[in-house]
Amino acid sequence: MRTMLASTSVGAPIAKPSAPPATATPVMNFATTTWPSPPRPLRPVRSAPDERPAPSERPASDETAPPAPDQSVLKTGGQVYADECAGCHGGDGKGEANLVPALSNSAAVQQSDATSLLRAVLRGARNVGTASAPTTPAMPAFAWVLNDDQVADVLTYIRNSFGNAGTSVSTDEAGKARRLFVERSD
Ligand code: HEC
Repeated sequence: MRTMLASTSVGAPIAKPSAPPATATPVMNFATTTWPSPPRPLRPVRSAPDERPAPSERPASDETAPPAPDQSVLKTGGQVYADECAGCHGGDGKGEANLVPALSNSAAVQQSDATSLLRAVLRGARNVGTASAPTTPAMPAFAWVLNDDQVADVLTYIRNSFGNAGTSVSTDEAGKARRLFVERSD
């Protein structure tokens, strides 16, 4: 055993790294480079609406708001929220100052693509501490607690409560996100 170990640990001498190629690409000097054309001005970003009527009070003709979700979905989503989320994010979705983000009147919660929200719920999220703010408030992962229907419903609920009006999240989307985020093997 001893000899085997010795013979495997003593390998051939390590080759010296070869010298860098003589024709290395020159480093670009951003201070003196002239760009082919001036950068395009940024488009103004449409800000999130301040407050929108609750789905039940939303007129069907309101073209700026997405269609109101099913009442039954809001009911189950509301139950999941009360059981699993309200403890941190608050019954009114206002969160805890400097610790838990507000979900109310939130552009993040209403964003058209729900992928980031699905990731937060399925995998959890954690703030990074710094020297002056060492607390690292965290949200647990709910992948093992909630099924695809419940994940979809609670997100549809928060996207249509607390002054938000977002598109519904489907069970199918929740299932796809689960395969993407949860079946990671690290
Ligand atoms: C133990 C406390 C806790 C619980 C329970 C909790 N969260 Fe969170 N949540 C947090 C914290 C803390 C963050 C911010 C994490 C970060 O900074 O990365 C967060 C972030 C989020 C975000 C992202 C918000 C944004 O503005 O980016 C969403 C969406 C969210 N939570 C939804 C939920 C939902 C839905 C539930 C219930 C299924 C839930 N949370 C349960 C503490 C919690």
